[in-house]
Amino acid sequence: MANATMKVWQLPAFGLNNLVMAERPVPVPGPGEVLIKVGAVSLNYRDKLVVNGQLLPEPPAMPFVPVSDMAGEVVEVGQQVSRFRAGDRVMGNFWTQWIDGEPPQAMLKHGLSLGGPLPGMLAQYVVLTEEVAVATPAPLSDEQAATLPVAALTAWFALVEAGRLGEGQTVLVQGTGGVSLFGMQIAHALGARVIVTSHSDEKLEHAKALGAWGGINTSEYPAWGEIANKLTAGEGVSHVLEMIGGDNLGQSIEALGAAGRIFQIGFLGDKEVRLPALSLMLRRATLQGVSVGHRRAFEDMNRAIDRHGIKPVIDSVFAFAEVRAAFDRLEQGPFGKVEIQVSE
Ligand SMILES: NC(=O)c1ccc[n+]([C@@H]2O[C@H](COP(=O)([O-])OP(=O)(O)OC[C@H]3O[C@@H](n4cnc5c(N)ncnc54)[C@H](OP(=O)(O)O)[C@@H]3O)[C@@H](O)[C@H]2O)c1
Repeated sequence: MANATMKVWQLPAFGLNNLVMAERPVPVPGPGEVLIKVGAVSLNYRDKLVVNGQLLPEPPAMPFVPVSDMAGEVVEVGQQVSRFRAGDRVMGNFWTQWIDGEPPQAMLKHGLSLGGPLPGMLAQYVVLTEEVAVATPAPLSDEQAATLPVAALTAWFALVEAGRLGEGQTVLVQGTGGVSLFGMQIAHALGARVIVTSHSDEKLEHAKALGAWGGINTSEYPAWGEIANKLTAGEGVSHVLEMIGGDNLGQSIEALGAAGRIFQIGFLGDKEVRLPALSLMLRRATLQGVSVGHRRAFEDMNRAIDRHGIKPVIDSVFAFAEVRAAFDRLEQGPFGKVEIQVSE
């Protein structure tokens, strides 16, 4: 595609109002790299933080192309590429150098991730090294597949890779955003019971229609941990996906059963976490941080998505020209994922 140009959305400076569409040359894949025609990108809460300059310890090089999640089609491969060929459908793995096992040290300082600090996916074409690309599950469209790299893998990594979730256990997910709804769908598919918390009765009804076993409106019941405990007849839940932080951990531990696990994923309410030490000790509970996941877990998850016929919950799909409206939708508390269609 020599001399061809493409459209990208880029930030000359932090702030959603600074996001502008620009024209750039289509990148050329070097040795070990693949050129991908982006079909769709999906927005995550982190994209909003990156765009507003609120997440990365060091600012990325400007102008910066944001957004971590992408699904598309390989259209050209560089020399020595062996994992993929033109025509293959792929997604990008968020942590670009985390293949399996323990991640490289640079990850601890928030390096090496797509969509900040590394360039993001909000472009008609992107180049990735072949090690970062992951095959798309065949039954999913690009809009559906673009939801997987961050939100789905985070929920999968917590519940399955780290949490070894088993049939008959009870999972509690907080809110009805991207990560939580994937947590609900994955747990349900694996035969676990799922309690969803939300600010909205309407969203809770919607979650129940998708397989949630219980729902708690946290506006109505601020001491919702006790309610979750009662729902499980006093046994408590085995896994909590913690999205909020701060004092919310006090409720999460109240909901938790013996030897249960809280997976610290989000900080929607507070960047600090506070929890009662005695409650943690008496339950012999574990609090574990989660940071998306490695490529091997991503590939395991895709097989499970295929096997169980899991279809991502999509709140809305926006055109490539409507990127700002898509970010506005993210702000409103969508039910599931917000998508941007990049090419037909
Ligand atoms: N650690 C990781 O690897 C990782 C990966 C992905 C995301 N995250 C983090 O996980 C969190 C959720 O991400 P997401 O992409 O799933 O978010 P999202 O799709 O934007 O959904 C957030 C949902 O949470 C609820 N909510 C929003 N603000 C809240 C608040 N202050 N208190 C309580 N509930 C609130 C709302 O649900 P209701 O209206 O139903 O209440 C909202 O729809 C974010 O903090 C994000 O940064 C972390």
